[in-house]
Amino acid sequence: MRKQLVAGNWKMNKTLEEGLDLIQSVFDKLDEHPNGPVVFGTPYPFLQAAAKRIKSREGFYLAAQNCHHEDKGAYTGEVSVDMLASVGVDYVIIGHSERRQYFHETNAQLAQKVNLALAKGLLPIFCCGEPLDIREQGTHVEYVADQLKASLFHLPESDFRKIVIAYEPIWAIGTGKTASTAQAQEMHAALRNLLAGKYGQSVADDTTILYGGSCNAQNAAELFSQPDVDGGLIGGASLKADDFVAIIQAMG
Ligand code: PGA
Repeated sequence: MRKQLVAGNWKMNKTLEEGLDLIQSVFDKLDEHPNGPVVFGTPYPFLQAAAKRIKSREGFYLAAQNCHHEDKGAYTGEVSVDMLASVGVDYVIIGHSERRQYFHETNAQLAQKVNLALAKGLLPIFCCGEPLDIREQGTHVEYVADQLKASLFHLPESDFRKIVIAYEPIWAIGTGKTASTAQAQEMHAALRNLLAGKYGQSVADDTTILYGGSCNAQNAAELFSQPDVDGGLIGGASLKADDFVAIIQAMG
């Protein structure tokens, strides 16, 4: 059985104090144990302090929003997977569309990041998704399939089983324009089918595929009720404790 999961991606928001307050508020407002892992994707400078808070609470995990694709060396300002592991990070978001778009990260670099993360025991949350023009041309499934093939399909099955996929249509990120449940389900089912072809049905059935892109407290339950949608990667709505808690509770 695959797991459901909700991950917040704070992006470049909040100060340390605000971030720790947010984590505490989420803990305070959740009286029931979440139905799946809940992940806080905080900025780098907060990771160590956030790890201390999060480790005390069962079911909660910490993610970095990125990592460098090289192991170590003269890369001023960059952060390695080893550094993340050394401060208690569990997951790492890899290939977010903002990284691909603004920092020109390539499929090949993303494959290197995935390899390093797995080698150091971090679990990748691998993002994929199409821009609006590709959606309008109707080639979105092929486009996203190519992203997975290019950065993940070199992995042996045992490694692939550690990957969480996040489908995030770029036209839905931060725009308030959510994919319809039918659009999300269509893509998630197509990706699962792709995984079945490559790794077999059992791997496909066990892979957690998240939806991201203007997922919020109002639409999360309907999105998560789709048979192939296993939770969400949440940007804006993860910055407010009430909204994030409602989304966590939408995991059925
Ligand atoms: P959003 O962002 O929820 O603000 O649309 C999602 C994401 O970029 O992960």
